[in-house]
Amino acid sequence: VYPAADVLHLASRSDERFGPWAVDHLDEVLVDHAHLERKAATTALAVVARWPEATALIGPLCALAREELEHFELVCAHLQRRGVALRRQRPAPYAAALMQACRNDEPARRLDTLICCGLIEARSCERMLLLRDALARRADAPDGDVALVELYGSLLASEARHHATYLELAQACGHARAEITARLGELAAHEAAVIAAAPAVPRLHNTPPPA
Ligand SMILES: [Fe+2]
Ligand SMILES: [Fe+2]
Repeated sequence: VYPAADVLHLASRSDERFGPWAVDHLDEVLVDHAHLERKAATTALAVVARWPEATALIGPLCALAREELEHFELVCAHLQRRGVALRRQRPAPYAAALMQACRNDEPARRLDTLICCGLIEARSCERMLLLRDALARRADAPDGDVALVELYGSLLASEARHHATYLELAQACGHARAEITARLGELAAHEAAVIAAAPAVPRLHNTPPPA
């Protein structure tokens, strides 16, 4: 059921303490997560808008955007169930810092953007797995939330699939397999550096304070 680390192409593993830390700040992380799902939908559509001539992107990314919007509504429903209002929140610096590595010339920019989007999906999946496991360990506690264990179990499978979709789309756009693999390695190393430097504010893409 769970995607293996190498399938996600991440260059680092998250700190194991991420799960318990996120559960300690669960409602704050859930609000962040809701915004991330909404942003994943708009990012997919922004990619379609930026490269409209790459028609191979249209079908898969519209489907992906619809799915992310469903995830947004799902997370919002869980917030409502928990009596938490969706509110504006300062996002983690992660995505913007990651995207800074995208080259400016075409078609390199398109390739880098697709890979970075894929890496965000991969890291989200990895983090959701840690969160799911931490929630499962506390399921029997007075503040345990079994419904969230199920939510994260289902979402992380989708995010693993989205990771694969972005890499497949890079190939569908005509980028050579060897070039995709080489650039994926470079950008995954950058991604690992970005997430290692993330602040200790509870967000899906931040990092717990040192022990
Ligand atoms: Fe999602
Ligand atoms: Fe996703």
